Amino acid sequence: MSRIAVTGATGFVGGTVAAVLAARGHDVLCLVRRDPGPDLPWPSRVVDVQDVDSLTEALDGADAVLHLAIWNDLIAMYADRQRAWDGYVGLTRRVVDAANETGARVGLVSTDWVFDGTGHLVDEEEPPNPVNLYGFLKAASELVVLERARAGFVARVGGVQGLHQTQASGPRSQDCGFGYFVLALVDALRAGGRFTVWEDPDINCVATPIVSPEIGALLGLAVDKRVDGVLHLAGATAVTRRELALATCEVFGLDADRLDFGPPPDEARLPAPVPHDTSMAAGATMARLGATAHPIEAQLAALRAELETGAPAPLS
Ligand SMILES: NC(=O)c1ccc[n+]([C@@H]2O[C@H](COP(=O)([O-])OP(=O)(O)OC[C@H]3O[C@@H](n4cnc5c(N)ncnc54)[C@H](OP(=O)(O)O)[C@@H]3O)[C@@H](O)[C@H]2O)c1
Repeated sequence: MSRIAVTGATGFVGGTVAAVLAARGHDVLCLVRRDPGPDLPWPSRVVDVQDVDSLTEALDGADAVLHLAIWNDLIAMYADRQRAWDGYVGLTRRVVDAANETGARVGLVSTDWVFDGTGHLVDEEEPPNPVNLYGFLKAASELVVLERARAGFVARVGGVQGLHQTQASGPRSQDCGFGYFVLALVDALRAGGRFTVWEDPDINCVATPIVSPEIGALLGLAVDKRVDGVLHLAGATAVTRRELALATCEVFGLDADRLDFGPPPDEARLPAPVPHDTSMAAGATMARLGATAHPIEAQLAALRAELETGAPAPLS
Protein backbone atom coordinates (compact mmCIF):
# COMPACT_ATOMS: atom_id res chain seq x y z
CA MET A 1 0.00 0.00 0.00
CA SER A 2 1.15 3.51 -0.78
CA ARG A 3 1.62 6.58 1.37
CA ILE A 4 -0.50 9.22 -0.35
CA ALA A 5 -0.75 12.91 0.50
CA VAL A 6 -3.99 14.65 -0.51
CA THR A 7 -4.62 18.38 -0.89
CA GLY A 8 -8.21 19.62 -0.79
CA ALA A 9 -9.39 16.83 1.54
CA THR A 10 -11.61 19.26 3.46
CA GLY A 11 -13.50 19.72 0.18
CA PHE A 12 -16.13 17.66 -1.63
CA VAL A 13 -14.09 15.46 -3.98
CA GLY A 14 -10.87 15.42 -1.92
CA GLY A 15 -12.69 14.19 1.18
CA THR A 16 -14.17 11.24 -0.67
CA VAL A 17 -10.83 10.46 -2.32
CA ALA A 18 -9.19 10.39 1.13
CA ALA A 19 -11.99 8.21 2.52
CA VAL A 20 -11.75 5.63 -0.28
CA LEU A 21 -7.96 5.45 -0.21
CA ALA A 22 -7.89 5.12 3.58
CA ALA A 23 -10.57 2.40 3.45
CA ARG A 24 -8.40 0.49 0.97
CA GLY A 25 -5.44 0.50 3.33
CA HIS A 26 -3.41 3.35 1.88
CA ASP A 27 -1.55 5.54 4.34
CA VAL A 28 -3.34 8.86 3.74
CA LEU A 29 -2.02 12.24 4.90
CA CYS A 30 -4.22 15.29 4.27
CA LEU A 31 -2.29 18.50 3.63
CA VAL A 32 -4.42 21.33 5.03
CA ARG A 33 -3.88 25.07 5.39
CA ARG A 34 -5.46 25.32 8.84
CA ASP A 35 -6.20 22.87 11.68
CA PRO A 36 -9.38 21.10 10.55
CA GLY A 37 -10.21 19.85 14.05
CA PRO A 38 -12.00 16.54 14.64
CA ASP A 39 -14.19 16.92 11.53
CA LEU A 40 -11.44 15.53 9.31
CA PRO A 41 -11.24 11.82 10.14
CA TRP A 42 -7.88 11.14 8.47
CA PRO A 43 -4.35 12.10 9.57
CA SER A 44 -3.55 15.64 8.54
CA ARG A 45 -0.69 18.08 8.58
CA VAL A 46 -0.95 21.85 8.45
CA VAL A 47 1.26 23.25 5.68
CA ASP A 48 2.09 26.72 4.44
CA VAL A 49 0.73 26.38 0.91
CA GLN A 50 2.77 29.43 -0.16
CA ASP A 51 6.05 27.78 0.83
CA VAL A 52 7.68 24.99 -1.18
CA ASP A 53 9.86 24.00 1.79
CA SER A 54 6.80 23.48 3.96
CA LEU A 55 5.22 21.29 1.29
CA THR A 56 8.51 19.43 0.76
CA GLU A 57 8.75 18.57 4.46
CA ALA A 58 5.17 17.33 4.42
CA LEU A 59 5.82 15.09 1.40
CA ASP A 60 8.80 13.38 2.99
CA GLY A 61 8.18 9.63 2.61
CA ALA A 62 5.10 10.04 0.41
CA ASP A 63 4.82 7.90 -2.72
CA ALA A 64 2.39 10.35 -4.29
CA VAL A 65 0.52 13.58 -3.76
CA LEU A 66 -2.99 13.93 -5.15
CA HIS A 67 -3.61 17.62 -5.69
CA LEU A 68 -7.28 18.64 -5.58
CA ALA A 69 -7.17 21.99 -3.76
CA ILE A 70 -8.40 25.00 -5.72
CA TRP A 71 -9.93 28.36 -4.97
CA ASN A 72 -13.39 27.21 -5.94
CA ASP A 73 -15.24 30.43 -6.66
CA LEU A 74 -15.86 30.63 -10.38
CA ILE A 75 -17.31 34.14 -10.16
CA ALA A 76 -15.00 35.83 -7.63
CA MET A 77 -11.95 34.65 -9.56
CA TYR A 78 -12.78 37.20 -12.27
CA ALA A 79 -12.45 40.04 -9.76
CA ASP A 80 -9.11 38.85 -8.34
CA ARG A 81 -7.09 37.32 -11.19
CA GLN A 82 -3.89 37.32 -9.12
CA ARG A 83 -5.42 35.23 -6.35
CA ALA A 84 -7.04 32.96 -8.92
CA TRP A 85 -3.76 32.38 -10.77
CA ASP A 86 -1.98 31.61 -7.52
CA GLY A 87 -4.76 29.36 -6.19
CA TYR A 88 -4.53 27.18 -9.30
CA VAL A 89 -1.28 27.50 -11.23
CA GLY A 90 0.96 28.86 -8.46
CA LEU A 91 -0.16 26.26 -5.95
CA THR A 92 0.19 23.44 -8.48
CA ARG A 93 3.71 24.62 -9.28
CA ARG A 94 4.67 24.60 -5.59
CA VAL A 95 3.19 21.12 -5.11
CA VAL A 96 5.10 19.86 -8.17
CA ASP A 97 8.37 21.44 -7.03
CA ALA A 98 8.00 19.88 -3.58
CA ALA A 99 7.18 16.48 -5.10
CA ASN A 100 10.16 16.70 -7.44
CA GLU A 101 12.32 17.31 -4.38
CA THR A 102 11.08 14.25 -2.49
CA GLY A 103 10.43 11.89 -5.41
CA ALA A 104 6.66 11.77 -4.95
CA ARG A 105 4.42 11.24 -7.99
CA VAL A 106 1.94 14.08 -8.58
CA GLY A 107 -1.67 13.40 -9.53
CA LEU A 108 -3.56 16.57 -10.44
CA VAL A 109 -7.34 16.29 -10.48
CA SER A 110 -8.52 18.40 -13.40
CA THR A 111 -11.82 18.99 -15.15
CA ASP A 112 -13.84 18.36 -18.31
CA TRP A 113 -14.16 22.16 -18.51
CA VAL A 114 -10.67 22.33 -20.09
CA PHE A 115 -12.59 21.53 -23.29
CA ASP A 116 -14.64 24.03 -25.27
CA GLY A 117 -17.79 21.93 -25.19
CA THR A 118 -18.15 21.49 -28.96
CA GLY A 119 -16.97 17.88 -29.00
CA HIS A 120 -18.66 14.68 -27.87
CA LEU A 121 -16.98 11.89 -25.91
CA VAL A 122 -13.58 13.47 -26.52
CA ASP A 123 -10.64 11.25 -25.68
CA GLU A 124 -7.42 11.75 -23.75
CA GLU A 125 -5.60 13.01 -26.88
CA GLU A 126 -8.01 15.91 -27.46
CA PRO A 127 -6.16 19.22 -26.90
CA PRO A 128 -7.79 21.51 -24.33
CA ASN A 129 -9.46 24.69 -25.56
CA PRO A 130 -10.98 26.32 -22.47
CA VAL A 131 -13.66 28.96 -22.86
CA ASN A 132 -13.61 30.49 -19.37
CA LEU A 133 -11.13 31.42 -16.65
CA TYR A 134 -11.71 28.28 -14.58
CA GLY A 135 -11.02 26.06 -17.58
CA PHE A 136 -7.97 28.11 -18.52
CA LEU A 137 -6.49 27.93 -15.03
CA LYS A 138 -7.07 24.18 -14.86
CA ALA A 139 -5.50 23.70 -18.31
CA ALA A 140 -2.51 25.80 -17.24
CA SER A 141 -2.22 23.72 -14.06
CA GLU A 142 -2.30 20.57 -16.18
CA LEU A 143 0.66 21.84 -18.17
CA VAL A 144 2.63 22.51 -15.00
CA VAL A 145 2.25 18.85 -14.05
CA LEU A 146 2.78 17.42 -17.53
CA GLU A 147 5.84 19.56 -18.31
CA ARG A 148 7.42 20.05 -14.88
CA ALA A 149 6.72 17.01 -12.69
CA ARG A 150 9.36 14.29 -12.78
CA ALA A 151 6.54 11.80 -12.32
CA GLY A 152 2.94 12.76 -12.60
CA PHE A 153 -0.45 12.50 -14.20
CA VAL A 154 -3.49 14.64 -14.87
CA ALA A 155 -6.86 13.05 -14.07
CA ARG A 156 -9.81 14.90 -15.61
CA VAL A 157 -13.17 14.42 -13.97
CA GLY A 158 -16.58 15.94 -14.64
CA GLY A 159 -20.21 15.54 -13.68
CA VAL A 160 -19.13 14.48 -10.20
CA GLN A 161 -21.91 13.13 -7.97
CA GLY A 162 -21.56 12.21 -4.32
CA LEU A 163 -21.83 13.15 -0.67
CA HIS A 164 -19.56 15.62 1.08
CA GLN A 165 -17.63 13.61 3.66
CA THR A 166 -16.95 16.32 6.20
CA GLN A 167 -19.84 18.76 5.82
CA ALA A 168 -23.32 17.42 6.56
CA SER A 169 -25.05 19.84 4.24
CA GLY A 170 -22.47 19.67 1.45
CA PRO A 171 -23.01 21.49 -1.82
CA ARG A 172 -26.31 20.09 -3.11
CA SER A 173 -27.79 22.64 -5.45
CA GLN A 174 -27.99 22.64 -9.24
CA ASP A 175 -25.54 24.90 -11.06
CA CYS A 176 -24.57 25.46 -14.67
CA GLY A 177 -22.25 22.47 -14.51
CA PHE A 178 -23.22 18.89 -13.63
CA GLY A 179 -21.73 18.68 -10.14
CA TYR A 180 -24.26 18.02 -7.34
CA PHE A 181 -27.12 17.73 -9.89
CA VAL A 182 -28.40 14.33 -8.82
CA LEU A 183 -28.60 14.95 -5.07
CA ALA A 184 -30.18 18.37 -5.66
CA LEU A 185 -32.92 16.61 -7.65
CA VAL A 186 -33.29 13.78 -5.11
CA ASP A 187 -33.54 16.24 -2.20
CA ALA A 188 -36.24 18.27 -3.95
CA LEU A 189 -38.40 15.33 -4.98
CA ARG A 190 -38.05 13.48 -1.68
CA ALA A 191 -39.17 16.66 0.09
CA GLY A 192 -42.36 16.53 -2.00
CA GLY A 193 -41.42 19.44 -4.26
CA ARG A 194 -40.83 19.81 -7.96
CA PHE A 195 -37.45 20.18 -9.66
CA THR A 196 -36.68 22.20 -12.75
CA VAL A 197 -34.02 20.59 -14.91
CA TRP A 198 -32.15 23.46 -16.51
CA GLU A 199 -31.82 23.17 -20.27
CA ASP A 200 -30.09 25.91 -22.19
CA PRO A 201 -27.55 26.16 -25.01
CA ASP A 202 -25.35 28.34 -22.80
CA ILE A 203 -24.87 25.91 -19.91
CA ASN A 204 -23.18 22.51 -19.57
CA CYS A 205 -25.84 20.14 -20.95
CA VAL A 206 -23.99 16.90 -21.76
CA ALA A 207 -21.46 15.08 -19.58
CA THR A 208 -20.25 11.63 -18.52
CA PRO A 209 -21.10 11.62 -14.81
CA ILE A 210 -19.06 9.67 -12.30
CA VAL A 211 -19.53 9.17 -8.57
CA SER A 212 -16.83 10.67 -6.38
CA PRO A 213 -15.89 7.36 -4.65
CA GLU A 214 -15.09 5.90 -8.08
CA ILE A 215 -12.69 8.80 -8.63
CA GLY A 216 -10.95 7.80 -5.39
CA ALA A 217 -10.70 4.17 -6.49
CA LEU A 218 -9.29 5.06 -9.91
CA LEU A 219 -6.78 7.53 -8.45
CA GLY A 220 -5.57 4.75 -6.14
CA LEU A 221 -5.02 2.53 -9.19
CA ALA A 222 -3.18 5.34 -10.99
CA VAL A 223 -0.81 5.71 -8.05
CA ASP A 224 -0.27 1.97 -7.67
CA LYS A 225 0.36 1.51 -11.41
CA ARG A 226 2.63 4.58 -11.54
CA VAL A 227 0.99 6.05 -14.61
CA ASP A 228 1.95 9.32 -16.27
CA GLY A 229 0.15 11.53 -18.78
CA VAL A 230 -3.54 12.37 -19.14
CA LEU A 231 -6.34 10.25 -17.72
CA HIS A 232 -10.10 10.61 -18.15
CA LEU A 233 -11.93 9.39 -15.05
CA ALA A 234 -15.42 9.36 -16.50
CA GLY A 235 -18.55 7.26 -16.48
CA ALA A 236 -19.36 5.18 -19.56
CA THR A 237 -22.54 7.05 -20.50
CA ALA A 238 -22.80 10.49 -22.05
CA VAL A 239 -26.09 11.96 -20.82
CA THR A 240 -28.00 15.18 -21.21
CA ARG A 241 -29.33 16.86 -18.08
CA ARG A 242 -32.80 15.58 -19.02
CA GLU A 243 -31.54 12.00 -19.45
CA LEU A 244 -29.69 12.18 -16.15
CA ALA A 245 -32.82 13.46 -14.40
CA LEU A 246 -34.97 10.66 -15.83
CA ALA A 247 -32.37 8.00 -14.98
CA THR A 248 -32.17 9.39 -11.44
CA CYS A 249 -35.95 9.08 -11.01
CA GLU A 250 -35.75 5.50 -12.24
CA VAL A 251 -32.90 4.42 -9.95
CA PHE A 252 -34.11 6.34 -6.86
CA GLY A 253 -37.77 5.41 -7.36
CA LEU A 254 -38.93 9.02 -7.77
CA ASP A 255 -41.87 10.42 -9.72
CA ALA A 256 -40.58 11.87 -13.01
CA ASP A 257 -43.87 13.73 -13.44
CA ARG A 258 -42.59 16.19 -10.84
CA LEU A 259 -39.75 17.27 -13.12
CA ASP A 260 -39.99 20.50 -15.07
CA PHE A 261 -37.63 21.59 -17.83
CA GLY A 262 -36.55 25.13 -18.56
CA PRO A 263 -33.74 27.65 -18.62
CA PRO A 264 -31.73 28.49 -15.47
CA PRO A 265 -32.51 31.69 -13.59
CA ASP A 266 -30.32 34.61 -14.65
CA GLU A 267 -28.56 34.75 -11.27
CA ALA A 268 -27.34 31.16 -11.75
CA ARG A 269 -25.48 31.96 -14.96
CA LEU A 270 -21.72 32.41 -14.91
CA PRO A 271 -20.44 35.76 -16.18
CA ALA A 272 -18.52 33.83 -18.82
CA PRO A 273 -19.04 31.18 -21.51
CA VAL A 274 -19.76 27.64 -20.33
CA PRO A 275 -18.84 24.54 -22.38
CA HIS A 276 -21.98 22.78 -23.62
CA ASP A 277 -20.95 19.13 -24.18
CA THR A 278 -18.10 18.05 -21.93
CA SER A 279 -18.55 14.31 -22.26
CA MET A 280 -15.26 12.41 -22.17
CA ALA A 281 -14.23 9.01 -23.52
CA ALA A 282 -12.19 7.04 -21.01
CA GLY A 283 -11.27 3.91 -22.96
CA ALA A 284 -7.51 4.48 -23.01
CA THR A 285 -7.50 5.40 -19.33
CA MET A 286 -9.45 2.33 -18.27
CA ALA A 287 -7.16 0.07 -20.33
CA ARG A 288 -4.12 1.54 -18.60
CA LEU A 289 -5.67 1.20 -15.15
CA GLY A 290 -7.13 -2.26 -15.77
CA ALA A 291 -10.53 -0.83 -14.84
CA THR A 292 -13.95 -0.41 -16.42
CA ALA A 293 -15.99 2.73 -17.01
CA HIS A 294 -19.43 2.12 -15.52
CA PRO A 295 -22.78 3.07 -17.10
CA ILE A 296 -24.99 5.76 -15.62
CA GLU A 297 -27.38 3.29 -13.99
CA ALA A 298 -24.52 1.72 -12.02
CA GLN A 299 -23.17 5.15 -11.04
CA LEU A 300 -26.60 6.17 -9.75
CA ALA A 301 -27.07 2.88 -7.87
CA ALA A 302 -23.70 3.48 -6.17
CA LEU A 303 -24.79 7.00 -5.25
CA ARG A 304 -28.04 5.67 -3.81
CA ALA A 305 -26.07 3.16 -1.73
CA GLU A 306 -23.80 5.95 -0.50
CA LEU A 307 -26.81 8.05 0.46
CA GLU A 308 -28.39 5.16 2.35
CA THR A 309 -25.27 4.03 4.22
CA GLY A 310 -23.26 7.25 4.43
CA ALA A 311 -20.25 5.23 3.25
CA PRO A 312 -18.63 5.89 -0.14
CA ALA A 313 -19.41 3.05 -2.56
CA PRO A 314 -16.77 2.84 -5.31
CA LEU A 315 -17.54 0.59 -8.28
CA SER A 316 -13.96 -0.51 -9.09
N1 LIG B 1 -16.94 19.18 -7.82
C1 LIG B 1 -16.96 18.90 -9.12
O1 LIG B 1 -18.04 18.63 -9.68
C2 LIG B 1 -15.69 18.89 -9.91
C3 LIG B 1 -15.78 18.70 -11.31
C4 LIG B 1 -14.59 18.71 -12.06
C5 LIG B 1 -13.38 18.85 -11.43
N2 LIG B 1 -13.31 19.05 -10.08
C6 LIG B 1 -12.00 19.25 -9.47
O2 LIG B 1 -11.94 18.54 -8.25
C7 LIG B 1 -11.14 19.27 -7.32
C8 LIG B 1 -11.87 19.42 -6.01
O3 LIG B 1 -13.05 20.16 -6.24
P1 LIG B 1 -14.18 20.25 -5.11
O4 LIG B 1 -15.48 20.48 -5.79
O5 LIG B 1 -14.03 19.11 -4.17
O6 LIG B 1 -13.75 21.61 -4.37
P2 LIG B 1 -14.16 22.17 -2.92
O7 LIG B 1 -15.19 21.31 -2.29
O8 LIG B 1 -14.47 23.61 -3.07
O9 LIG B 1 -12.81 22.03 -2.09
C9 LIG B 1 -11.73 22.89 -2.34
C10 LIG B 1 -10.57 22.45 -1.45
O10 LIG B 1 -9.44 23.27 -1.77
C11 LIG B 1 -8.94 23.85 -0.57
N3 LIG B 1 -8.35 25.15 -0.91
C12 LIG B 1 -8.96 26.21 -1.44
N4 LIG B 1 -8.08 27.20 -1.68
C13 LIG B 1 -6.88 26.74 -1.29
C14 LIG B 1 -5.58 27.29 -1.27
N5 LIG B 1 -5.31 28.52 -1.74
N6 LIG B 1 -4.58 26.54 -0.78
C15 LIG B 1 -4.82 25.31 -0.33
N7 LIG B 1 -6.03 24.72 -0.30
C16 LIG B 1 -7.04 25.44 -0.79
C17 LIG B 1 -10.11 23.94 0.37
O11 LIG B 1 -9.59 23.96 1.69
P3 LIG B 1 -10.20 24.85 2.91
O12 LIG B 1 -11.10 23.91 3.68
O13 LIG B 1 -8.99 25.25 3.66
O14 LIG B 1 -10.94 26.00 2.28
C18 LIG B 1 -10.83 22.64 0.04
O15 LIG B 1 -10.24 21.55 0.72
C19 LIG B 1 -10.78 20.59 -7.99
O16 LIG B 1 -9.45 20.52 -8.43
C20 LIG B 1 -11.76 20.70 -9.15
O17 LIG B 1 -11.19 21.40 -10.22
C21 LIG B 1 -14.45 19.07 -9.32
